[in-house]
Amino acid sequence: MKIFRLDDDRQTLVLAVENDRLPYVVYWGASLPLEEDLEAVCAAHAIDVTGGMLDANPDVSLCPEAARTFPGQPGLIVRDMDGTQILPTFRFQDVREDGALSLICTDEKNGLTLTFDFTVDAQTHIIICQTTLDATRPVHLDWLAAPVLPAPQNSDEMIDVSGRWCGEFQLNRTPWSAGIRLRENRTGRTGHEHFPGLLVPAVGATNTQGECYAFHYGWSGGHKMIAEELQDGRRQVQWGNAAHTEMQAGTQFKTAPLYVTYSDTGLNGCAVSFQRHVRDRIVIWPKRDAPRPVHYNCWEAVYFDHQLPVLEDIARRAAALGAERFVLDDGWFGQRDDDTRSLADWTVDPRKYPDGLSPLIHHVHSLGMTFGLWFEPEMINENSDIFRANPHWALGAQDQTMGRQQKALNMALPEVREYLYESIAAILRNTEIDYLKWDHNRVLPFADAEQTRGTYALLDRLRADFPLVEIESCASGGGRIDFGILSRTQRVWLSDSNDASERLRIQHNAALFLPAAVTGSHVGPRVCHTSGRTHDITFRAWVAAQRHMGFEMDPRELDARETQVLMEVTQWWKDNRAWTYDADILRLDSSDAAVIAEQQMARDGDRFVVFAGKTATSAQISPRPLQLAALDPCATYRITLKNRDEVPALSRGTPALKYDNLTLSGTYLMHHGITLPWSFPERMWVVEGIRI
Ligand code: DGJ
Repeated sequence: MKIFRLDDDRQTLVLAVENDRLPYVVYWGASLPLEEDLEAVCAAHAIDVTGGMLDANPDVSLCPEAARTFPGQPGLIVRDMDGTQILPTFRFQDVREDGALSLICTDEKNGLTLTFDFTVDAQTHIIICQTTLDATRPVHLDWLAAPVLPAPQNSDEMIDVSGRWCGEFQLNRTPWSAGIRLRENRTGRTGHEHFPGLLVPAVGATNTQGECYAFHYGWSGGHKMIAEELQDGRRQVQWGNAAHTEMQAGTQFKTAPLYVTYSDTGLNGCAVSFQRHVRDRIVIWPKRDAPRPVHYNCWEAVYFDHQLPVLEDIARRAAALGAERFVLDDGWFGQRDDDTRSLADWTVDPRKYPDGLSPLIHHVHSLGMTFGLWFEPEMINENSDIFRANPHWALGAQDQTMGRQQKALNMALPEVREYLYESIAAILRNTEIDYLKWDHNRVLPFADAEQTRGTYALLDRLRADFPLVEIESCASGGGRIDFGILSRTQRVWLSDSNDASERLRIQHNAALFLPAAVTGSHVGPRVCHTSGRTHDITFRAWVAAQRHMGFEMDPRELDARETQVLMEVTQWWKDNRAWTYDADILRLDSSDAAVIAEQQMARDGDRFVVFAGKTATSAQISPRPLQLAALDPCATYRITLKNRDEVPALSRGTPALKYDNLTLSGTYLMHHGITLPWSFPERMWVVEGIRI
């Protein structure tokens, strides 16, 4: 028996190798004492055998092997060049321990090697795992799982994530039962439909308490997840690229990194680990210490109707409201008067911009804002000069079903990547642009891992040559959000929904994985363009102020009160962004189903802000107390209702926060909670707390 142990100060992962078979996890959970007898842990891990079972239970190894009578899904499906399925049986070969742990296993007969890599980030509590398959001759890969981990048996449900356009980050709670919960994304991009994340809470866990395990697969080409309960009750979780997306035979295949963590402070423990890991490890910030600028994006103001005087006027008003970066969206290139044409013709439209973009950029700079520009590099319209010259650059069948009247470019072709690099680099070389919004508005005609690698290569080359330019990942809103794209970008456009009610929920759920610093959130038009709802400016502004704030309405529609509120909330956001940038977002366990609440907690624990958004009228007539989280029980905090000027006339009572600040202990705030005034639905209370 060989035993390997990985630790941070919150969790321990113990791996064992028995009789030189593939390693398997014998323990993953709360930190074990350093002196724990690991031989005993391995011995204690074995489960019994009774009638109707094999004489020994096959291991749930890091890559379960079909040829070892494993009764569930195998971790590797590989074929020879002639199509014959290979049924490997690996033997443990070697270990490397150089900061990371690598376990190497070979199948000599079939000429295959599996390497399992594990790295523990002691600060963020994220364990990064990856599997590599090497072959001595080319083979076809159908499925390769990242290191396969067990899921706990004291859990009665799993939570994974689905969604749609304008409805991203919907949480699905599925009871564990015999068999498989399979999520496979065959759209070729991360997708609204299948965010690659999973939470497995132990029975009774909530946002703020209990045990929870969490997984995220960092790949932008579509993933497959298998959460399987075997007949004996054991559970395995597999993650990898969507099956059959390696079109060519090869001698080496790698999964994307799988990020996992265990928490004993509820779902929030996992969420905070992911948030910190994304912000502090994954994202490469051009200027880490520079404040995140307030954005203005012109899409919902003008769409394709770009007129220089109008845009100049809008820019002037946006700057006066507090914007610090102006992003020129779709419509500036080719003959892009609508979404039927010109994608791939990345030259400035001389009808709209007779002197190029420079006059607008100079104007924006003169207002103290930086300038950002929209691209959709991986796409092409048939009605474009580039398509007419290079129809073979499009991916997929000639008569494929179009998406938004466009096709995807074949990013595996070096000449396509070269063309796109040159087109984008020419604009970045000749104009002062510090930001790209990188869109991707259709699914692929078929899923192909090479497409994703091509996109990554293009992004990596541009980033190497223009390291000060930030990039936003957008795909009809939140269609490409994952740690793979976030290691090449600095912001995600979470959703095309600027409906504050919808956005409140979407960003609350996204916080299970994403920090505020990367999560774009804009104040939309008074009447939302995607839902038709009308929201008061206070609600719209506070919802945007929960994340990386921006505006997207036509500022010419704002009346005096709306302008005033927006300027004040934006100023509040700026005054606080130095600490909210790296605050932890804690989802609160709201006792009122109508209230979505979160607490943004400064890293030093000395201050926080609570956002309590009321999505609908409540079942009961008075607000229920809202319990806070992660405070020092012995400390006292001064609590202020920041926006008490928004208390409506129908609030007739005397809840203390309506009139005064309160000084209360962490124990009181976490166990009883704060009592807020009555409010209308579609309003947000903002409560500030300072440790005194
Ligand atoms: C989809 C994006 O999500 C929008 O924000 C906008 O950029 C449009 N594409 C432009 O075509």
